[in-house]
Amino acid sequence: MIFESHAHYDDKAFDEDREALLRQMPEKGIGGIVNVSASVEGIRDTLALAGKYPFVYAAVGIHPDEAGSLDDEAFAWIRGQCDRDKVVAVGEIGLDYYWDKESHDIQKYWFERQLELAREKGLPVIIHSREAAQDTMDIMREKAQGLPGVIHCFSYSPEMAKEYVRMGYYIGVGGVVTFKNAKKLKETVQQVPLERILLETDCPYLAPVPYRGKRNCSLYLPYVVKEIAGLKGVSLEEVTETTERNARALYGL
Ligand code: NI
Repeated sequence: MIFESHAHYDDKAFDEDREALLRQMPEKGIGGIVNVSASVEGIRDTLALAGKYPFVYAAVGIHPDEAGSLDDEAFAWIRGQCDRDKVVAVGEIGLDYYWDKESHDIQKYWFERQLELAREKGLPVIIHSREAAQDTMDIMREKAQGLPGVIHCFSYSPEMAKEYVRMGYYIGVGGVVTFKNAKKLKETVQQVPLERILLETDCPYLAPVPYRGKRNCSLYLPYVVKEIAGLKGVSLEEVTETTERNARALYGL
């Protein structure tokens, strides 16, 4: 079955039909979902979803856009949440110089603290990095040696993807790979072994063609599977099974 490695079902875009949508996932071929939090409130909602649905797991962490809301007290609370049932990763954490909502120093500080937290708790990391290629790589080299994880919604060069693979990381691939102009990502998928690729939506964002621009959800992942299968010249089953095995290995499921 398809394993969805990165979703945001706590997002308000799902307020209208969250229950109805999530309930039908297993019968529609989605075997597991990691809901990834971005804020303190998001962590609460993510844990509630994981408590409610047997196939939903939780990642707890603070997105770089929200790094300014962190302090030692909030961080101590997050540390405690890492010990809860069904928490499988620390994330999403990283650097975002595209939206640039927080100073780079603040982003880097909390990125590093959360990497240390993952190490302390023995959890893998889910990395968000946008227009911050070099700083992310520098911090990963310095602070994340030996720490398992995924570079989610990968948007850099095939060369950098291969470097992350050499460091032991997985590459998260979602709807963008179906976009006509996504030349770099298509090349990345061709050059990285399938054994290092995870399927993800980042929903409600980044819906694949033919739903580009609409609200995304895990039910559209077959379009991503089909694109990856075409790019790599393998069957749909091989993409589905291998990426599920990859995700379960990373998240310890
Ligand atoms: Ni995300």
